[in-house]
Amino acid sequence: MCGIVGYVGPQAAVEVVGEGLRRLEYRGYDSAGVALVAKGGVVTEKRAGKLANLTEAISQRSDINDQHTGIGHTRWATHGVPNDRNAHPHVSSNGRVAIIHNGIIENFTRLRAELEADGVELASDTDSECVAHLLERQLDTGGDLADAMRRVCNRLQGAFTLLAVHADAPDTVVGARRNSPLVAGVADGEYFLASDVAAFISHTRSAVELGQDQVVTISPDGLAITDFDGNPAAGKHFEVDWDASAAEKDGHDFFMFKEIAEQPKAVADTLRGRFAGTGEISLDEIRMSDQDFRDIDKVIIVACGTSYHAGMVAKYAIEHWNRLAVEVELASEFRYRDPILDRSTLVIAISQSGETMDTLMAVRHAKEQKARVLAISNTVGSTIPREADAVLYTRAGIEVAVASTKAFLTQLVACYLVGLHLAGVRGIKFADEVAAIVTELAATPDKIATVLSGMQPVRDLAAAMPNADRALFVGRHVGYPVAMEGALKLKELAYMHAEGFAAGELKHGPISLIEDGTPVIVVVPSPRGRSVLHDKVVSNIQEVKARGATVIAIAESGDDIISAHADHTVFLPVVPTLLAPLLTAVPMQVFAAELATAKGLDVDQPRNLAKSVTVE
Ligand code: G6P
Repeated sequence: MCGIVGYVGPQAAVEVVGEGLRRLEYRGYDSAGVALVAKGGVVTEKRAGKLANLTEAISQRSDINDQHTGIGHTRWATHGVPNDRNAHPHVSSNGRVAIIHNGIIENFTRLRAELEADGVELASDTDSECVAHLLERQLDTGGDLADAMRRVCNRLQGAFTLLAVHADAPDTVVGARRNSPLVAGVADGEYFLASDVAAFISHTRSAVELGQDQVVTISPDGLAITDFDGNPAAGKHFEVDWDASAAEKDGHDFFMFKEIAEQPKAVADTLRGRFAGTGEISLDEIRMSDQDFRDIDKVIIVACGTSYHAGMVAKYAIEHWNRLAVEVELASEFRYRDPILDRSTLVIAISQSGETMDTLMAVRHAKEQKARVLAISNTVGSTIPREADAVLYTRAGIEVAVASTKAFLTQLVACYLVGLHLAGVRGIKFADEVAAIVTELAATPDKIATVLSGMQPVRDLAAAMPNADRALFVGRHVGYPVAMEGALKLKELAYMHAEGFAAGELKHGPISLIEDGTPVIVVVPSPRGRSVLHDKVVSNIQEVKARGATVIAIAESGDDIISAHADHTVFLPVVPTLLAPLLTAVPMQVFAAELATAKGLDVDQPRNLAKSVTVE
């Protein structure tokens, strides 16, 4: 969601900023723009739609070429429709200040009214434009762009990453952040600001994490950070441990296919070195004692989208292994219902990006209520892990496709590890019991690879149904959240009406959706598990078959009973019941990605979606 890039240095800023925007495309956007500054003043170009539109417009301009300072933005619309006018940058009335913004300025109605009362004519419908005018006014009262930015930030409510340039400071970009991501890149004589390191990874791996409520100035002379009151502040330096090639497609048509293929490695990496053999797992950062973990009497998992489905699976595992009550809640609903939590509640926040605003707000609410917060995230140094009491990082590597795949599987692994850690620390499971499950977990990367090598029938099935207008996904027990995830993938990628249900709910409504040929994808529990579950799913298959459904079953290898009932059966390796989602989710991902491909859709960047949703 909204990508931000800023650059000062010897290179042509339009090139560096343009490349950064391309690398941030995965965040999702519907318009894009740049502002370049040189001695003559500020020039901007912006266009609705894909970056190609912006590139074409820039190629027609003779005044955008060799400036060495610039900012660029990909916008995901919140206030104001996605059109050229509402695209960023926004420019102040005198044309000398340009800004870009990610987030939502909650008091913009008041600020806008104030500006309009003062005779300012706003050129867009956005909340962001106010900032350009406010900066111009502050500059008129004295001080430099950073001073003006600090004074303006103190007036803003909500969430923002801002970058600004000013015609009087052609070598400077000033940035600010509150509740939205901003990171700096440092190279020899050149500096970068961006929503994430992907934007400048081909230039430098040396990065500086900006704290909450900080203003940063980059110029060829260096990088200076203050708080909003002007007190000097320090950023946290880190080295990025992946390179630009990790952000390439590796021969696949879409990043999503590459990321699906990377899942065995992502799962293995996430498990690596985590288990001490004593029944304890190593969390990456812990600001909680073992006693804190023992004092926990309830777990609440908060997350959004695919991460929420990982949380739903975690509930089954953590409850089963710990005999501890686990609630799972959509982060966007959590704080508004006045949840019951106190210092003996463990809130687990799952977020691939670590920046999802709903999840961040849920974390803050939990902390206000004195609950302990454990973050599961794929993004080192992002806001949610920073604010949590303990962190377990998934090691999926950068995930570029908007629809999450490898991050989901690694979130499941992290949830299992947390469940086992709790069971060990709380004395509910013996170390050898924990070790036995960890051994099963350690075997899953190979099994996922086996699943991937047998996906041709799933591809063929998907390719044969580009005209299907709906699909149902059903499952029981841990198969239920996987069914929901399968449906979400199809909605996200193939723009099809797809719903995931608990198979037992079919008879309470969804079965009426079934017509001749409606695809029903069934996640079948292992016949070796609680046989009652398997039997019930066999009945469910018969019920939908009787109404004309085409049943695609995802079942355990050797489950001949199912293959006798389903139209198509995809067999997967044998795995313990609670770990089955690590395998059953994979055919769902392949199915959705192939179906979207068959429909000629953009698999990596589905319409209207953003990778990182940094507004509530
Ligand atoms: C967006 C993405 C989803 C993701 C969700 C939560 O909706 O499109 O793929 O699951 O956000 O993101 P998070 O980064 O918090 O896991």
